[in-house]
Amino acid sequence: MTTAHVAPVRTERAPARVRLRPTMSSDLEYVLSLERDPVNLPFITPWERTQHEAAIRFPDFRHFIVEGGEALEAVGFLILIGCRSPHQSLELKRLVVQDKGQGYGRAAVRVAKKIAFDDLGAHRFWLDVRTHNARARGLYETEGFVHEGLLRECVRGAGGFDSLVVMSQLRSEFADRRALGLELRA
Ligand SMILES: CC(C)(COP(=O)(O)OP(=O)(O)OC[C@H]1O[C@@H](n2cnc3c(N)ncnc32)[C@H](O)[C@@H]1OP(=O)(O)O)[C@@H](O)C(=O)NCCC(=O)NCCS
Repeated sequence: MTTAHVAPVRTERAPARVRLRPTMSSDLEYVLSLERDPVNLPFITPWERTQHEAAIRFPDFRHFIVEGGEALEAVGFLILIGCRSPHQSLELKRLVVQDKGQGYGRAAVRVAKKIAFDDLGAHRFWLDVRTHNARARGLYETEGFVHEGLLRECVRGAGGFDSLVVMSQLRSEFADRRALGLELRA
């Protein structure tokens, strides 16, 4: 069982504090409702319940509820894949935040990086993001993810096929950012 991780992060707008805890079966209605929310659908490919159930159980996956706000209530969820990868290449498979623009996404990405590099021994932490997802791309770029390439028109979108930008951060880059005080302390 993964222990809870807490990230106090101050942005220009407001401080955000989040905690990640392992997702439980009883959380899946919340997870599915976020995935099916029309505001999120342009940016993700929703999973079936059985895929989430498997992700909760499989050792290669980590499925987290993001908790935030004064009462540390559920504000989103996050999935990591490749946690047992012999290549130490972990994927931030999914991040969805309910109330956008409160700083929860940035805080959750910081905690995810700490888990990936410090706890799970990642050498490379990567993700893909649809080209039209300006908010997420801006977030990942300012969190030190480097543009690797473009998967052209590889997923179905509302208006046809969407392309995916692949981004990653290497352990050495994370260490450099941490030395500059840009990452959570070990
Ligand atoms: C993407 C997502 C996880 C970000 O979480 P969030 O809590 O809304 O983001 P934050 O409040 O932490 O803000 C992140 C940054 O994005 C920036 N941003 C917002 N809109 C932007 C835009 N149109 N272009 C560029 N940057 C933008 C904000 O300015 C903010 O930076 P700041 O901290 O310097 O102000 C969230 O919006 C979400 O769940 N979106 C739908 C699902 C999704 O796209 N998931 C990611 C799939 S890869």
